[in-house]
Amino acid sequence: MALQQQRRRFLRLAGASVGMSAYASTLGIQCSAVAGSDSLQPAERRRPALKEVYKEHFLIGMAGDLPGNYSQQELALVKEHFNVVTPENCMKPGPVHPSENIWRFERCDALVKWCLDNNMAVHGHTLVWHAQTSDWFFRDGDKSVVVQRMKDHITTLVGRYKGKVRSWDVVNEAISDGGHSQTAQTENLRNSSWLKAVGPEFITLAFKFAHQADPDAKLYYNDYGIEAGPKHASAMVLLRRLIKEGAPIHAVGIQGHWSTRGIPYAALDRAIAAFASLGLKVGITELDVTIGGASGGQFGPRRFANLPPPSPEDLKTQADAYARLFAIFVKHNQVVERVTFWGLSDRRTWRFGQHPLIFDANNQPKPAYWAIVDVLLNSNRDLPAPR
Ligand code: G3I
Repeated sequence: MALQQQRRRFLRLAGASVGMSAYASTLGIQCSAVAGSDSLQPAERRRPALKEVYKEHFLIGMAGDLPGNYSQQELALVKEHFNVVTPENCMKPGPVHPSENIWRFERCDALVKWCLDNNMAVHGHTLVWHAQTSDWFFRDGDKSVVVQRMKDHITTLVGRYKGKVRSWDVVNEAISDGGHSQTAQTENLRNSSWLKAVGPEFITLAFKFAHQADPDAKLYYNDYGIEAGPKHASAMVLLRRLIKEGAPIHAVGIQGHWSTRGIPYAALDRAIAAFASLGLKVGITELDVTIGGASGGQFGPRRFANLPPPSPEDLKTQADAYARLFAIFVKHNQVVERVTFWGLSDRRTWRFGQHPLIFDANNQPKPAYWAIVDVLLNSNRDLPAPR
């Protein structure tokens, strides 16, 4: 959206009620504080739909195997705030294609139908991954056989939802962790079964197969930790190679599994610009910000079940973190095309017990929700604009 348009829109929104906002300052808009909802407590403020607040900037998504066992209240919350859904597990290779001649489309079909019936887009996740992938793809097969199995998987799944799934995570998490200055000059690919069976070209092939199956779908490379450090450098090396090889890649997914301890804001700001310099769009594809702990969900809820509930200070720290992140996304809104939260609420999260999302376990908005709304609408939050 052109700067002038952004100014006009911001000032129109500012007519409602506004204080100085990080967003305003990035646009060079000076605006006096106007009495309005700033002074109201969240309990008294109308709860804007996130997808409406951000509709001129980027899609707002969530992850979950909907409608599944979600309550009507939860489904209503999804419809209220989000306009794109990522299946959390059901479209992954293992769940959907557990053996060569067995496909389990039921949950995928139900998700796509629910989304289309409710005017929501679908982002497919994920076609080629080292995890949640049955080993039949690689068993007793030479390179050509494994490539054919990959092609058949992608062609069948993408083809089934052609015109219904707007975009796909074609390859997920292909870059190794633990990089350093030497590996930063290379792609530093994870030594996955795909790499061992096919070689580095498995990535380009996956993109070409997906594009053949649905030429209109937007195709992502998706990974975590690629916003900073050696893994960002390796991502740039990989993306340049894919583009040079003619892979039909359209966007990069920065997963965004962060913690209030140590979000690399400045590096993220630079990384989005760097990916854009390759001609790619960016999605923030799996956003969650735990309070304190930086652990994943792989430890399961038991590890965190006895944690005390977050304090008001914790919630404020988390709210500030989300606000700073969204100020960066808004700054790059010509490049960032989607921001998806990985889950729905602190009850529906893989990082259960660490309170990472913006709705609590009772589906009520947390301070982080209001902070995200306030980034655009009416924040007194004088967060420093992204450096
Ligand atoms: O469906 C089975 C169920 O039948 C069984 O009873 C149960 C207990 O074993 O397991 C269930 O499968 C679990 C699945 O989630 C569905 O709940 C798997 O064990 C569990 O490993 C799986 O975890 C998912 C994880 O990916 C797997 O790596 C998380 O829900 C999901 O949020 C997480 O998402 C990933 C993204 O796909 C990629 N980026 C990282 C992100 C977090 O790890």
